[in-house]
Amino acid sequence: MCGIVGYIGPKSIESVLLVGLQKLEYRGYDSAGMAVMNSGEMVTRKAVGKIAELEKQLKNQPLIGNTGIAHTRWATHGEPSMINAHPHLNSQRNIAVVHNGIFENYAKLKAELIDDGFVFLSETDTEVAPHLMEKYIEEGFAPDEAFVRMLKRVEGQYALAAITEKEERKIYFARKGSPLIVARGNNEFLIASDIPAVVPIAHEAIYLDDNQWGYITEKGISIFDLSGGEVTPQWEPVSVSVEDVEKGDFEYLMLKEIYEQPDVFERVFKQRVDDAFIHFPELKFGKEYLARVGRILIQACGTSLNAGMIGRMYLEQYAHISAETDYSSEWRYRNPLASGDSLVVGISQSGETADTLAGVREAKAKFMRVLSFLNNINSTMARESDAMIHLMAGQEIGVASTKAFTAQVLNLLFFSLYVGSIKWLLPAEERREVLNEILALPEKMRSILKNHDRIKQIAEFLKDKNDTIFLGRTYNYPSALEGALKLKEISYIHASGYAGGEFKHGPLALVSDNVPVVIIAPQGDIRGKMISNLKEAQSRKGTIISIITEGDEEIKKESDYYIEIPPCMESISPLLVAIPLQLLAYYTAIARGCDVDRPRNLAKSVTVE
Ligand code: F6R
Repeated sequence: MCGIVGYIGPKSIESVLLVGLQKLEYRGYDSAGMAVMNSGEMVTRKAVGKIAELEKQLKNQPLIGNTGIAHTRWATHGEPSMINAHPHLNSQRNIAVVHNGIFENYAKLKAELIDDGFVFLSETDTEVAPHLMEKYIEEGFAPDEAFVRMLKRVEGQYALAAITEKEERKIYFARKGSPLIVARGNNEFLIASDIPAVVPIAHEAIYLDDNQWGYITEKGISIFDLSGGEVTPQWEPVSVSVEDVEKGDFEYLMLKEIYEQPDVFERVFKQRVDDAFIHFPELKFGKEYLARVGRILIQACGTSLNAGMIGRMYLEQYAHISAETDYSSEWRYRNPLASGDSLVVGISQSGETADTLAGVREAKAKFMRVLSFLNNINSTMARESDAMIHLMAGQEIGVASTKAFTAQVLNLLFFSLYVGSIKWLLPAEERREVLNEILALPEKMRSILKNHDRIKQIAEFLKDKNDTIFLGRTYNYPSALEGALKLKEISYIHASGYAGGEFKHGPLALVSDNVPVVIIAPQGDIRGKMISNLKEAQSRKGTIISIITEGDEEIKKESDYYIEIPPCMESISPLLVAIPLQLLAYYTAIARGCDVDRPRNLAKSVTVE
């Protein structure tokens, strides 16, 4: 949500800022802008809509300089418009600020500044920042001090960058609650909301902590805490490559990420499995502690919660631990009860989701221990959790989560097997049997991916529908939720997922000859029950799209369309079922002409409540 890039160095300022913004497009935005110190003068360019619009403007009115900041805005306060687009300037137009987050006390500050004679142009909360800086500079403070004074007045969360005409070779930055990194290349420095924006240039980066601020100049970087103490920069190598953040030969990043899943699994196996034993080298909790955990409370949002719901079943099945799941946004407000042996598990691809992070904080405030399953190990959640498990999915950029989802499910499965073994409650033979099934997954995934043409044909049928129902049971009930979420978020077709057993209790009323029903019925204990669901939908003229185990002639005959997955154990079938569901959503969205990597209204990382 919102993206920030800042650059100071010898390269073309326009290109660096534009490429940086493009690499942050996945975060979601509806307007873009930049401010550059152009021969000692502050110049801005803004555009509503895509970054390409900004690029067009820059072609007509280029910017020259070596210090600049840029922003993609995802509207919170005020509609997407030229006036509300960042950067925001003070009245004298010599201070520019870009901001990700929310200033919760902006209304009070704005009223105070208007009383002081400052004129506001936008509806945004951000605009208080340049005016506050101007006020302190007018009072005689140097820009550094004015920046800090402004930070001390604003409440809420932010990642911020500012430039001023007074200090034209300095970019100020600050972080509290929203991610921000500083990076360096060859005699050049950058700031950015996330690593993809700096990958083409930088070889080292610093992941800022909350309440840190500082500035970059051509010569280097200075970081301070809010009381003025200097912080020693901790540089880390940038491990993400240009190929990781580009779509390569694929039409969309989402498709690339879907196809990466077998490789992600093989990468995770290398780290986790060794001679039928499972390892979590990064996990800070000792075996004695894990063996004593009596209850696990999983809190997450969206796709991560769907993964958590499958994980809950693994924890019960293989680790013999009672587990429950909830939306982070509900969990954090419902005063959850927990005893000393309860462990809170947060699941997040980004590690920056505001609600999940708040859930982590809520747990810690209640003296509960927190374990987070994270893809971004430099994220705020990674720092604030007591322990962390790395998903190892690699950088996920497509807004619709795919490879992070299957990596979440896989790591939850490994964790459950690990804890079950520690507790001596999971027989070695059963562990080996499940492990063998897991190790066979990449090849099975590849075979599903090869058969994508069949899914394309189904997408051609689905593309003209307005509603779709997804049904699954036990391990594949969360698959039904995830299949529906994928379809609606990128194709904008209304879709709902239900537990098969609940179908008759209401959702069945929705079925008609115009409402397709996706029946997830791989081999296993619940297959028979799913056939009953199929019949219920069929007798109401619903078109049946089934996901079945290869060679299931009985269901094939009953289905209008079917997709086959290779045979596998029922408990791990969600890891295979996920792939046709992702492809079905993808091809349907493509058939409807949707921009799957930039779905409307959505942001990759939801950093505000
Ligand atoms: C859907 C999707 C979202 C995220 C959710 C949580 O495809 O990506 O539902 O899963 O916003 O995000 P993270 O996992 O970053 O906490």
